[in-house]
Amino acid sequence: MPATQYAVFGHPIGHSLSPPIHRAFAQQFGIELAYQAIDVAPAGFAAAVRRFFADGGRGANVTLPHKAAAFALADERSAAATRAGSANVLTALAGGRLAAHNTDGDGLVRDLTERHEADLRGHTALLLGAGGAAHGVAWSLLDAGVATLTIVNRSPEAADVLADAIGDPARAHTRYWEDLASIGSYDLIINATSAGVLGVALQLPFSLIGARALCYDLSYGAAAASFLTWAKTAGAWRAFDGLGMLVETAADAFELWHGQRPDTEPVYQSLRQQGA
Ligand code: ATR
Repeated sequence: MPATQYAVFGHPIGHSLSPPIHRAFAQQFGIELAYQAIDVAPAGFAAAVRRFFADGGRGANVTLPHKAAAFALADERSAAATRAGSANVLTALAGGRLAAHNTDGDGLVRDLTERHEADLRGHTALLLGAGGAAHGVAWSLLDAGVATLTIVNRSPEAADVLADAIGDPARAHTRYWEDLASIGSYDLIINATSAGVLGVALQLPFSLIGARALCYDLSYGAAAASFLTWAKTAGAWRAFDGLGMLVETAADAFELWHGQRPDTEPVYQSLRQQGA
C-alpha cells in the first residue's frame, strides 16, 4: 500500500464521494492511487493540511467548511481561486509550498453545457446565495455568457459584496430576498445557499420560473431534494442537482495532479446507478 498522496478534507466528510470518484478516474489510466477522506474541524484544518503535505501528500481536495481557509493558507493562488476567495484544490509545489485552485465554476459550467447540453448564452440567471459556493460559480456563469446575473441573498450585504467584487453592474446586480415574488422570472436559477445542507426548505415563489427555466442546486443528494421538488412543482423545464458538477470539479483536480483527463461520464452514470 503506497503512502497516502491524495485526500479530501472536510467536516463532516463521512459520505464524501470524492474518494470513489478519484479511484474510478485512476482506474481508467491504471494508476495506483491512495486517496483518503480526512475529517478535521476548522480549528485543526491548517495543521492537518501541513502534516498531510509534509508526510508526502501531493494533492488535496477541500470541501465545506474549509474552502476559505485553504485559500488563505496557500502560497500561490490561481486566478479562479483568487476571484472566488476560496479553494477546493491544494497542490504541492517544490520546497513545501502549496498552490490553491478553484474548479467549482468551471465544473458547474461544464456540467450544464456539456452533460446537460444547456446553452447559457443570453440567459437571465438568478443566483440564490452569496456565500462561498456562490462566489465559486458567479464569474464562470458570466464567462459562459449569461446575459444578466441577479444575486439574491437573505442578508443583502453579502449580495452587495459579491456584486461589487464582480464589478460589472450592467450584467451583475442584486435584489432583496423579500422581493423574490416580484422580481419576475428567470431562465436559469442556481441554488447556492446552504439551506438544503442545513436541512431547511427555502420558501421560493413559483413566479421565478421562466418559460424554459433550468434549475440547478449546487449540492446533491438529500441536500438538493427540497429545491428540486420546488423546481419541478413550479413547472421548471429541467432541474438538476450538483452531482455532475462534483464529478467535473474532481476531473479538473485529477488532470492537474496526474496530467491526464479522465472520462467523467461513466463515473457519473455509475454513481447515479448506485443511487447518488
Ligand atoms: P457555502 O460555502 O455553502 O456557500 P456559506 O459561505 O456559509 O456556505 O454561505 C451560505 C449561504 O447560504 C449564504 O448565502 C446564506 O445566506 P446569509 O448570507 O444570509 O447567511 C445562505 N443561507 C443559508 N441558510 C439559508 C436560509 N435558510 N435561507 C436563505 N439563505 C440561506
